[in-house]
Amino acid sequence: LRASFASKAQKENDQNFNYNSQPQASYKVAVLGAAGGIGQPLALLIKMSPLVSDLHLYDIANVKGVAADISHCNTPSQVRDFTGASELANCLKDVNVVVIPAGVPRKPGMTRDDLFNINAGIVRDLVSAVADNSPDAFIQIISNPVNSTVPIAAEVLKQKGVYDPKKLFGVTTLDVVRANTFVAQRKNLKLIDVDVPVVGGHAGITILPLLSKTRPSASFTDEEIEELTVRIQNAGTEVVEAKAGAGSATLSMAYAAARFVESSLRALDGDGDVYECSYVESDLTDLPFFASRVKLGRKGVEALIPSDLQGLTDYEQKALESLKPELMASIEKGIAFAQKQA
Ligand code: NAI
Repeated sequence: LRASFASKAQKENDQNFNYNSQPQASYKVAVLGAAGGIGQPLALLIKMSPLVSDLHLYDIANVKGVAADISHCNTPSQVRDFTGASELANCLKDVNVVVIPAGVPRKPGMTRDDLFNINAGIVRDLVSAVADNSPDAFIQIISNPVNSTVPIAAEVLKQKGVYDPKKLFGVTTLDVVRANTFVAQRKNLKLIDVDVPVVGGHAGITILPLLSKTRPSASFTDEEIEELTVRIQNAGTEVVEAKAGAGSATLSMAYAAARFVESSLRALDGDGDVYECSYVESDLTDLPFFASRVKLGRKGVEALIPSDLQGLTDYEQKALESLKPELMASIEKGIAFAQKQA
């Protein structure tokens, strides 16, 4: 009796933790840069998804151990490791979603743009391989500076003749996650209910939380708006400084990216009610790329949601106008880099 009780309890624990009772796993996800600070916890969180059948982990080094370790979790997906450029094509074959956290992170005193020289080339090469091997996949770029690496990816895909703007995403979910957390704390709201759209881009003043569009609706004093906006914009730097040279946000980033991956998989699986903020090709403003709330569907971005940008407060409108030159410069820098290399 004791043995059967133990095994029943164990089974329930496993089911609760692993979501084994949830939908059938059938999607293939690749993480490029999977041995890194973000890549490892992100791979673990994706391993917990009930929607994933195959998890492909790629890095230039140290990925074998990460894959061996994660593969022991008794969740549905099969984990495989791929090391170095010669194994990249195999890693990418037939995948539905490719997440890219490959590259170097910031150290104290650095801006995201300081990473451009190294990360631009890494993203170019990885996206080029995606274009050759899984041109239909959703491509989700985490590597900074996202404001430039997404335009680089778009140019590479265009050069390869496989660009689908609906399937290229800059991952800005962490800005939303942070905004939700900080607003809930400040206003004493139930965290699970709070949703703050964050638009613009993913660096400094280009990160624009639209506090007036907070759901459930909340009122803020001018001081609160200024304090929360600045904290959300500098939250990455808060972590970089706290880590004092040991990197930037990795755990909260992995959490945020896993949420974005899971939302994408639900959309691919036919859920008609999936909305996330993401930095995508856009016609909501005069900028060619812009982060906003988007509706996700089977084919990627089903619709951009313009309503968040309507009826902005004076503070938000002014912040929107002042972020545009910086964001445009980052976009142009990315495009120029990719075109020079072509
Ligand atoms: P990390 O240095 O810990 O890991 C990066 C990994 O990329 C390493 O394992 C490295 O071997 C790998 N890598 C380097 N070149 C590669 C290549 N050509 N192909 C495949 N893998 C390669 O860095 P961390 O902390 O994981 O950050 C990764 C990136 O994510 C950075 O650019 C960082 O700025 C960015 N980031 C983005 C955020 C966002 O909100 N979008 C938030 C936090 C970080």
